[in-house]
Amino acid sequence: MGLQIVGWGTALPEKTLTNRDLEAQLDTSDQWIRERTGIRERRIGDSTAELAIEAGREALEHAEVDPASIDMMILCTTTPDQTVPATSAKVHEALGIGGGAFDLNAACAGFVYGIVVAESLLAANPAKRVLLIGADVLSRITDWTDRNTAVLFGDGAGAVVLQGCSDTDGQLLSSDVGADGSLSGILYADLGGKMKMEGAEVFKGAVRAMIGSSRRALESAGHRADEIALLVPHQANLRIIEAACQRLGIPADRAAIVLDRTGNTSSASIPLALIDAVRADRLSDGDLVLLTGFGAGMTWASAVVRWRESAR
Ligand code: COA
Repeated sequence: MGLQIVGWGTALPEKTLTNRDLEAQLDTSDQWIRERTGIRERRIGDSTAELAIEAGREALEHAEVDPASIDMMILCTTTPDQTVPATSAKVHEALGIGGGAFDLNAACAGFVYGIVVAESLLAANPAKRVLLIGADVLSRITDWTDRNTAVLFGDGAGAVVLQGCSDTDGQLLSSDVGADGSLSGILYADLGGKMKMEGAEVFKGAVRAMIGSSRRALESAGHRADEIALLVPHQANLRIIEAACQRLGIPADRAAIVLDRTGNTSSASIPLALIDAVRADRLSDGDLVLLTGFGAGMTWASAVVRWRESAR
């Protein structure tokens, strides 16, 4: 069995928080934030469920599929609205999903982990259609008095409808997932607490994880980095993305970038960047796309996808 992407949708809160706004409340500057991260502004507000519902609904409408025909909904999030139940319960109810639903937390690598889980559900049957959503409200666990972290994060959601198909029509060519729990102390939030981060350690770990994981995924797909038409990296810091591009041998202008407008939206960042590139007509039929993410844990995940216009 293969997997096709047959629809997509996004959601961002209305409220924009610019670097200038942050200057007014923190010892920071628009110039520092732009030069060290590439971020200009981020959106904040709403709950994880609200953003997931909006993005999920748009994806279902775009795919023109009945929500009742979705066999499984996976909500990738690291900021659930409640401890119990899973946030996917509310989203399931609001969208009228027919099958099951669960939350998946693999931090900023969550969405690509979700693709891998969706593929195995589709391969195993009975799941024929999966709604995969990445949604996070990092503003809720951000310490707005800590300039080391407050400038980095934002809220948002992105969603895709995935459908089973024959192996030859499948778009997912390969994947790589991994984790290293010995690094759990460099980026964390205790229950009810705010995020704490050792920025330089995360930076180094991120570049290492993205490069290693991307190379493994490329190798198992039987493709070279220079064949990649679009790189969709986790949107944490433009310098991390540029370092990864350089070491992988992918020109930086082939990377999909939304972080200048969204900041780091964790599970939402890869679908937001992918869908932004699709809407900007950056992909043609047959193009190779490399998705690669890393996050707290640390976790990492990459996938090589062959873009198919015909699937939509
Ligand atoms: N505004 C102004 N100055 C700031 C600042 C801010 N928002 N944040 C940190 N600084 C200061 C530091 O205090 C330090 O000052 P000092 O030299 O007087 O001690 C100086 O800037 C340099 O700090 P440094 O940590 O070396 O900056 P950096 O270039 O490494 O950038 C990060 C810091 C956080 C942007 C960078 O390390 C990073 O992006 N790390 C990865 C974060 C990440 O991806 N997290 C999510 C993972 S999913």
